[in-house]
Amino acid sequence: MIATKVTDLIGNTPMLALPVPARQASLLLKVEKTNPGGSMKDRMARSMIVSALETGRLKPGGAVVESSSGNTGTGLAITAIEFGLRFIAVVDHHASPDKVGMMRALGAEIRYVEGDFREDEVAVVERQRLAAQIASELPNAMFMNQSDNPANPGGYSELVQEALTQANGTINAFVGCVGTGGSITGIGRGLKQHDPRTTVIGVEPAGSIVFGQPGHPYFQSGTGTPAGDTVGLVLDYGCIDEGVQVTDTQAFETARFIARTVGLLVGGSTGGAIWKALELIHSGKIGGNVLVIVADGGEKYLHNIYQDAWMAKRNLLDPGIAETLETWLGQRRKLAA
Ligand SMILES: Cc1ncc(COP(=O)(O)O)c(C=O)c1O
Repeated sequence: MIATKVTDLIGNTPMLALPVPARQASLLLKVEKTNPGGSMKDRMARSMIVSALETGRLKPGGAVVESSSGNTGTGLAITAIEFGLRFIAVVDHHASPDKVGMMRALGAEIRYVEGDFREDEVAVVERQRLAAQIASELPNAMFMNQSDNPANPGGYSELVQEALTQANGTINAFVGCVGTGGSITGIGRGLKQHDPRTTVIGVEPAGSIVFGQPGHPYFQSGTGTPAGDTVGLVLDYGCIDEGVQVTDTQAFETARFIARTVGLLVGGSTGGAIWKALELIHSGKIGGNVLVIVADGGEKYLHNIYQDAWMAKRNLLDPGIAETLETWLGQRRKLAA
């Protein structure tokens, strides 16, 4: 089929299996970075805009305003083009400069929150406040509010069907990142509807407060809820069997390992989900077909997590992570020298 608009290219993403021979399990990577905006968030962004237009909360020619670390904003920028809408993205210094550049290139207007924030501190609360304010001051504008918008989890129903078809109907476990909670809720619920025995594991950065641990700053981008922020209303804890934490070092070193040994350039949050999935497979907690979403690609993080100097300066390097991964994935995957 030849597409006639870019949003037709959202979805139908490929799946890559990584065998875990010692446990006779398979890590099924759903490669969402092949969506036109480079992340899974294209799906929910279009879903939120279509739903707002259908319910009349957003009128043709109006403006969409959203607080985003970059991926939701990129998806919104692409869908705003489809429907001829204005899009204003509210970001903070924590957003990857490449992600902000992408949104700008796609016609988004960028507004930075002001304030003196630490490098590893996410200004989500401030971003939300400014986005709501901008939307209230503009005529025919809507604050998308992805954390509380039911069309966020609703945007992942096709992903569930695609993944089940690709896995021949059997997905035994799903290990997913939790930011707004939209993807884990949409995907987790869908998988459990298909088979209630599916184990759903939520992964948040160490320092995020989603699963009740004390908050502290972290570097993982787009995922988790920082201290001071409230967990999104879209997150359905009922579809998560267990919530776990991953450190910045585990997440980033895993992403770097996957890039250089598998050849798939993944983002940091995906690295964290892969690390936790392999750890849980090896502890015997989950097994069989284990789904992990490649939420976005490493192309968006070439200036931070893929730079040795950036990692070293923040004390995030640990060669032991690669050694453990090498053991978990078996002898087949040899480390580059
Ligand atoms: C790279 C990345 N990983 C994970 C997440 C978390 O996804 P969700 O908001 O669906 O919980 C996001 C959300 O922005 C993201 O951009």
